[in-house]
Amino acid sequence: MKQQLLDRIENHTAVIGIAGLGYVGLPLAVEFGKAGYRVIGVDVMADKVAKINNKESYIQDVPAEVVAELVEKGRLSATTDYGALAEADTISICVPTPLRKTRDPDMSFIINAADAIAGIVHPGLLIVLESTTYPGTTEEIIVPRVTTGDLEVGKDIFVAFSPERVDPGNPVYQTRNTPKVIGGVTPACLEVAKALYRNAVDTVVPVSSTAAAEMVKLLENTFRAVNIGMVNEMALMCDKLGVDVWEVIEAASTKPFGFMPFYPGPGLGGHCIPIDPLYLSWKLKALNYNARFIELASEINASMPEFVVGRVVDALNDERKALKGSKIIVLGVAYKRDIDDVRESPALDIIHLLAERGVEVSYHDPYVPSIRLEDGGRMESVALTEALLGAADCVVIVTDHRCFDWQWILDNAGLVIDTRNAAKKLAGKARVIKL
Ligand SMILES: NC(=O)c1ccc[n+]([C@@H]2O[C@H](COP(=O)([O-])OP(=O)(O)OC[C@H]3O[C@@H](n4cnc5c(N)ncnc54)[C@H](O)[C@@H]3O)[C@@H](O)[C@H]2O)c1
Repeated sequence: MKQQLLDRIENHTAVIGIAGLGYVGLPLAVEFGKAGYRVIGVDVMADKVAKINNKESYIQDVPAEVVAELVEKGRLSATTDYGALAEADTISICVPTPLRKTRDPDMSFIINAADAIAGIVHPGLLIVLESTTYPGTTEEIIVPRVTTGDLEVGKDIFVAFSPERVDPGNPVYQTRNTPKVIGGVTPACLEVAKALYRNAVDTVVPVSSTAAAEMVKLLENTFRAVNIGMVNEMALMCDKLGVDVWEVIEAASTKPFGFMPFYPGPGLGGHCIPIDPLYLSWKLKALNYNARFIELASEINASMPEFVVGRVVDALNDERKALKGSKIIVLGVAYKRDIDDVRESPALDIIHLLAERGVEVSYHDPYVPSIRLEDGGRMESVALTEALLGAADCVVIVTDHRCFDWQWILDNAGLVIDTRNAAKKLAGKARVIKL
């Protein structure tokens, strides 16, 4: 089975299945399509499936022309029916791994995908889990579900874990040139998974087990969450000391070794950094171990929206104004610059905190036409005009999209709370208060 699969991968007759066509799955599907494979994508959302088959893209980093070309050449198709994967030689699982309301891992998407794959599993199939998850998932959740009948892993079917590292909006590093870590359940599993991914990414980094590969991703994202938490706490401490944290980081960054700058901000956002470390701490709880760095970083990072609102209260107070009834514009709601993703964005918390305190809050974000509010309602992005900025009691910069004209904003606003150091050393009419 192994040699047969390796041959099909090598001569590009292998059919590639992708389960979950989101920020991770669609770019991966496109990369395999570009490498010359026939790719079948499965997603539970019929509108995404229809868009792909209609030659459209809904992911910013994937141009519609590329989708169109692959669909026309018969190298990419999408469906909601897992039955279509019966002819697949490989399946990469790229489904969401969010948290439940209780902040515990929500494994339901991985379980549903594995159960659906169990219905079409056949000898010679390679299954690779890409979703970020706690160490042990591939062996504990995927393997028992797909080893139906007398299929043996490493002999009849192959199972691996390969964490996805895609950084949406990154103009330099995308799926192809970001090295890919892979761990197999057995050496044979690793061998076929490496052979497959070598076709879609330039560099493959093998590790000795699926648990090691799962842990690599959690190390990377915990590293970011903890360092951002640390620098956010630096910002809180600098505030108490009356020191400009941005100046401190800039000067510290001149050290040519042993220092790596991280920047404070209004809080953590996105589907990864605020969530992934909690998968690890949850798993460790079951082993009677308290992941202290993770818990502390989460607590500090989660407190930042409230800190920003406190900044607004103080700044308005200086002008003898109350928060209640004030007009506040939030600039940028995406969780980071130049992208359209608002998942876990701190802007949503800030808007909620301001609205529940009686602020007339609105937002402008050229990437995000509307957002869903906590009460289920929707808010539309307003046009950014001189009149809007002039009428606002306060403008809060939450996301520093590169397209914003900071000088023009500072020339037309009265009071600006700058949570990203976007204004840097610019001066205008506005009184600017940094985080
Ligand atoms: N977005 C990122 O920047 C990023 C980066 C690295 C890793 N990851 C990880 O990759 C995984 C996927 O993230 P994403 O951002 O692509 O999520 P996403 O929500 O953009 O996409 C997931 C897709 O899976 C579909 N889906 C849900 N259940 C399904 C099922 N049972 N079968 C088939 N499709 C199903 C959803 O409809 C959705 O289209 C997560 O584990 C995430 O942590 C994401």
